[in-house]
Amino acid sequence: MTASYPATRLRRSRATSWSRALHRETVLTPADLIWPLFVTEGAGVEEPVGSLPGVSRWSVDLIAQRAREAVSLGIPCLALFPNTPAAKRSDDGEEALNPDNLMCRAIKAIRDACGDDVGVLTDVALDPYTSHGQDGLIDQAGYVLNDDTVAMLVDQAINQAQAGADIIAPSDMMDGRIRAIRIALEMGEHHNVQIMAYAAKYASAFYGPFRDAVGSGGLLKGDKKTYQMDPANGAEALREVAMDIAEGADSVMVKPGLPYLDIVARVKDRFDVPVFAYQVSGEYAMIEAAAAAGAGDREALVMETLMAFKRAGCTGVLSYHAPLAARLLNG
Ligand code: PBG
Repeated sequence: MTASYPATRLRRSRATSWSRALHRETVLTPADLIWPLFVTEGAGVEEPVGSLPGVSRWSVDLIAQRAREAVSLGIPCLALFPNTPAAKRSDDGEEALNPDNLMCRAIKAIRDACGDDVGVLTDVALDPYTSHGQDGLIDQAGYVLNDDTVAMLVDQAINQAQAGADIIAPSDMMDGRIRAIRIALEMGEHHNVQIMAYAAKYASAFYGPFRDAVGSGGLLKGDKKTYQMDPANGAEALREVAMDIAEGADSVMVKPGLPYLDIVARVKDRFDVPVFAYQVSGEYAMIEAAAAAGAGDREALVMETLMAFKRAGCTGVLSYHAPLAARLLNG
């Protein structure tokens, strides 16, 4: 009787740790990570964010310490989000244009502490500054006005660039804002300030804890569905990305992350540009809750999800787990 053998044994390459290392197709390093940080007023202040266990808002002086920590961990870039005091919020979000606002002071503190050893990415959108929690200017009916908002966003972006931001990241989803911001940056001699476009940003249920963290959650009436994308749409994401590239984006982002890895893969396949994903607050909270409930090992869950972003084609990932992941990767 002739013995029957499998023609191929894929398990051969999986049999030992050295062989698995040799065959590994994707690598994750601390240099793939962008660390989102929340900034708050005061000095020496750390305020834990209730809905994001393990994440805090930091006053500007302590943000500078986080920046030093990022450098020592090999994390190349920070993403900043301000928790603007209620008294400084207004219908038109004018505080976004104040050269001495929390965001600008944080950028300068990081620059003073770390020079060019770490990049600073700043979010462009009005929601941390508006009294209604929407990302732009609204009319009587509460509709977010596109072109009037773009004019504000341009000024907001220039304000951030003047404070020393390295990457301007518009997260507002207004049409035409990338082109308008790029032109203003060029005219303002900010030729080397990059734009990372939140190109495919969905109207997602995963942003809840973030809105708590920046203090806009309780203020928001309604939703953001007239400007953020419908989770049912994929082809439209490719149009958004094509538009943002044509308008001058240096890189694009897909957001949220894990439920949208198909979008990451399609974007990467179609366009030769750096693609980033944002593993958002609700995803972070979900992993923490799962681990706390004993549904999985926290560190293993974190590392598997981050590797999945790389495998799908991401150049890098924004994740609140960035410092934990970098520590684990550094051994
Ligand atoms: C602001 C903005 C949001 C996030 C990043 N920038 C919230 C929103 O669009 O409502 C969400 C990030 C997260 O959930 O971690 N436009």
